[in-house]
Amino acid sequence: MSTETVPIQPVNIKRVTTQTLQEMKAAGQPIAMLTAYDYTLARLLDRAGADVLLVGDSASNVMAGHETTLPITLDQMIVHAQAVVRGAKRALVVVDLPFGSYQVSPRLALEAAVRIMKETGGHAVKLEGGAAMLETVRRIVDAGIPVMGHLGLTPQSIYKFGTYKVRAQDDDEANVLRRDALALQDAGVFALVLEKIPATLGAEVSQSLVVPTIGIGAGNGCDGQVLVTHDALGLTVDFNPRFVRRYAQLGETIDAAVKQYVEDVRARDFPSDDESY
Ligand code: KIV
Repeated sequence: MSTETVPIQPVNIKRVTTQTLQEMKAAGQPIAMLTAYDYTLARLLDRAGADVLLVGDSASNVMAGHETTLPITLDQMIVHAQAVVRGAKRALVVVDLPFGSYQVSPRLALEAAVRIMKETGGHAVKLEGGAAMLETVRRIVDAGIPVMGHLGLTPQSIYKFGTYKVRAQDDDEANVLRRDALALQDAGVFALVLEKIPATLGAEVSQSLVVPTIGIGAGNGCDGQVLVTHDALGLTVDFNPRFVRRYAQLGETIDAAVKQYVEDVRARDFPSDDESY
């Protein structure tokens, strides 16, 4: 029997870990996170240098066409995560625990997190919420599973909020967020997403924590940034919040390409002799 060890990683690619993110924060090096839901895009985002790929429950919106993130199931998240993990050679892959899979009890939450880790090969899970989630975070982290927190606008609570407006603009809600952030850190989260809160609060919370914060609509003082990839690449054409920067207009590119294809097929211009056997 050979005693040679098989590397679990392709040579020369060093996997980003939760420890890497901690070191990046300590070195003042911003963390670039993007969402991913499938193999092909995950491979492109990973190759282009994204540090973290989030298999977000925003898949419910951008992949399945639901109005909110609530309908997506754990089984569906697992299928998305399996594909992303196959495409990510360097990035840390974080998988959202979907609505309903972790709010009922810490035990059910741990079961859902264990399924994600065992069935997908993902490296961490993310969940939304503050004080109410502390026991759950501890339970999952105690089982050896890294947890990313998520405060501010937490889309799974959209029906409670009743609006997608900026959160924590008044002192009371800002104080709760400050306390929740510290409590989540104490409970063991390795990083914290801050969504749609004032930039000053995002910067203040980031400075108050040892673990990195990743902002989305939370200003430039966070330790990293995340965008929904379909927003950043211009695929979600009718969604234009202030915090999105469009790095490409792929919606327009696809539109032009498909119109050309249809025209070529109808004109019998495609396929040419060179494209035939
Ligand atoms: O599901 C998601 O895409 C997210 C990001 C907005 C952070 O949670």
